[in-house]
Amino acid sequence: MKSLVILILLTMISLSWAQNEMAGKCMTCHKLKSPGLYKQWYESQHGMHEVTCLDCHGASKSEADAFLHEGAYIATLVTPEDCGNCHEKEAREVQNSYHATAGEILDSQDAYLAHVTGGEPAAILGCESCHGAKVIIDDNSPNKLSKKSWPNSGIGRINPDGSKGSCNTCHTRHNFDKTQARQPEACGKCHLGPDHPQMEIYEESKHGNTYYTNIDKMNLHSDKWVVGEDYFVAPTCATCHMSATPSKKLSHDVGERLSWTLRPAISVHKDNWQQKRKNMLTVCQSCHGSAFAEGHYYQYDALVHLYNEKFAKPATDIMNLVIQEKLLENPASFGNKIEWTYWELWHHEGRRARHGASMMGPDYTWWHGIYEVVQHFYFKFIPEAQSFKNKKVDDYIKNLFEKDATHQWLSTNTEELKKGIRSGKLQQKYQELFIQDK
Ligand code: HEC
Ligand code: HEC
Ligand code: HEC
Ligand code: HEC
Ligand code: HEC
Ligand code: HEC
Ligand code: HEC
Ligand code: HEC
Repeated sequence: MKSLVILILLTMISLSWAQNEMAGKCMTCHKLKSPGLYKQWYESQHGMHEVTCLDCHGASKSEADAFLHEGAYIATLVTPEDCGNCHEKEAREVQNSYHATAGEILDSQDAYLAHVTGGEPAAILGCESCHGAKVIIDDNSPNKLSKKSWPNSGIGRINPDGSKGSCNTCHTRHNFDKTQARQPEACGKCHLGPDHPQMEIYEESKHGNTYYTNIDKMNLHSDKWVVGEDYFVAPTCATCHMSATPSKKLSHDVGERLSWTLRPAISVHKDNWQQKRKNMLTVCQSCHGSAFAEGHYYQYDALVHLYNEKFAKPATDIMNLVIQEKLLENPASFGNKIEWTYWELWHHEGRRARHGASMMGPDYTWWHGIYEVVQHFYFKFIPEAQSFKNKKVDDYIKNLFEKDATHQWLSTNTEELKKGIRSGKLQQKYQELFIQDK
């Protein structure tokens, strides 16, 4: 019995010795072969805490993407499940977040658009570079990863081990630094552009403004990073959507503080939205009074209602009528002009307006937002719908313009409208948008 214990102990020691020797070999060779990569690792918290190449890249022979490399089985991919061996909480939160679903876009209208009207290379280097795609195994490739699906570090990448995402989307390798992830640039690769310009909005807002002029006061290198305690000059994307507040812990679930989803054609509240809004208010209240922060939500809600009620719902009704009445000439979706007009109305301009309003970007709320919605609703979308000369469609539009007080301006004279603005009568037509949702 005793000798068996000793034998097991000896085997364990020699195994871990062999493991250490192997791990040492990785570094020794890569220090020469890929010195940039080696130095990123060497200076990182992992390098300092002796988390080696093999600790992350080591794999068992049975894993789908494992291959033999210099005497050890390794995998090129280091998935959230692999990181989760040491960072269980972060890996769990990432898996439960909306980010993890981002690779499941193949059935979306957007994916149809990319594949049908564009073509596969555009989907790979466009959509899938942000969203992630399924990583395909190719046994003939030296690292077993199909060249069509690797490189890829999309936020919802579907990994061979079943886990979703890639932690290095935000924690750029091989530093894996939290200082870097706290900065807006970590999100800016994806959250920008015509359909979700969060980065541009942040840059134009007072928050971005104050951040960029005071970066040196952000205490970005601090281990603990609680808003109001460790820094106070400005919030970053991470501050509002992830990082700790005096009463909330850091969370890798970026949806925990959102009350609306502004992505669909017509905005809806998220489940349990009141609680999620309270979570966000704990961030604001580190720097603002609660009347100020709640005032922001009052104005923001009204803008979402305005977009929904005045433009998105009627446009969606009209588009549905056009489809039901079989007025479209070409059989394929996106084969007809009005479909593009409707799409840009909600997916681009309508989102920009809502995103601008949610994050204090006035230019996106109005000039890149509602202004364009207005112009394209009245002077592109409606004329295109009327061009079909269909009675149901025409009646809908006539009724909308006659009965809906917010559209009656079209048939009113300018002087009267101006008088209405001065007296406040015109503004009253929008009063019911300032309601509190239940
Ligand atoms: C004797 C030198 C040497 C040793 C030892 C070595 N590597 Fe490498 N490794 C390389 C070279 C060279 C490449 C690049 C191959 C190429 O360019 O195709 C590479 C590639 C890799 C890749 C990328 C594979 C791919 O193509 O996607 C990973 C990951 C990797 N090594 C990890 C490790 C780990 C972990 C160890 C320790 C078990 C290790 N290496 C040991 C030389 C070495
Ligand atoms: C903390 C975990 C971790 C450690 C430690 C680590 N890596 Fe990596 N490595 C990654 C991740 C994550 C990726 C990206 C793979 C992915 O997207 O899943 C990667 C990718 C790579 C790649 C392929 C991508 C490229 O840019 O060529 C090579 C080569 C590589 N690592 C080598 C090494 C070597 C050599 C070491 C040790 C000096 C090392 N890694 C240490 C996590 C790690
Ligand atoms: C073998 C265990 C192990 C693995 C696997 C591992 N880490 Fe770590 N990680 C550590 C240790 C130890 C530290 C340093 C102590 C700490 O902060 O907890 C650390 C620290 C970190 C930090 C904080 C760095 C900072 O700036 O303070 C980040 C971010 C991180 N790891 C991300 C990752 C990611 C992403 C992966 C997978 C690609 C990964 N880790 C894989 C053990 C590991
Ligand atoms: C620059 C990075 C980027 C590119 C390229 C990109 N997306 Fe997105 N996509 C995003 C981001 C970020 C969001 C979330 C925006 C938000 O929540 O405001 C998103 C949202 C979506 C949504 C809405 C998901 C939902 O649940 O409402 C779909 C579907 C989608 N994208 C599909 C695609 C497809 C398909 C392509 C290619 C035609 C594509 N995206 C190109 C970054 C990108
Ligand atoms: C959407 C971007 C994003 C993704 C994806 C992401 N992280 Fe993070 N992570 C951050 C930010 C931002 C911080 C720093 C927050 C802070 O300090 O307030 C952070 C901090 C960390 C820390 C330090 C935690 C601490 O308590 O100090 C670890 C460890 C970590 N992340 C691991 C991971 C792992 C593992 C994954 C993948 C499963 C991952 N992260 C994916 C943005 C991200
Ligand atoms: C690699 C691309 C990428 C990066 C980097 C990225 N995101 Fe995202 N993000 C997305 C995509 C894509 C979606 C939409 C997910 C979907 O369609 O399922 C999204 C969705 C979100 C949402 C909406 C979540 C919800 O529950 O509705 C928030 C908030 C968010 N991201 C914040 C951030 C923050 C903060 C960072 C930086 C710390 C960041 N993201 C970094 C691609 C990215
Ligand atoms: C001052 C805090 C704050 C900052 C800084 C901030 N956001 Fe937001 N963000 C919000 C608020 C508030 C909302 C709306 C929440 C709601 O609907 O309840 C929001 C909404 C979002 C959404 C959801 C959009 C949708 O389509 O549903 C995404 C994605 C997002 N922000 C990403 C970012 C990114 C990326 C950055 C940095 C470039 C950033 N945010 C900076 C407060 C902030
Ligand atoms: C780290 C501190 C900090 C946090 C957290 C923070 N803000 Fe601010 N906020 C500021 C500063 C600084 C200003 C600029 C004040 C000024 O104009 O003098 C500002 C300005 C504003 C403005 C005025 C914008 C303008 O153009 O005048 C609004 C509205 C606002 N914040 C709302 C919020 C909301 C809502 C939250 C939470 C989702 C929040 N803030 C979180 C620091 C913060």
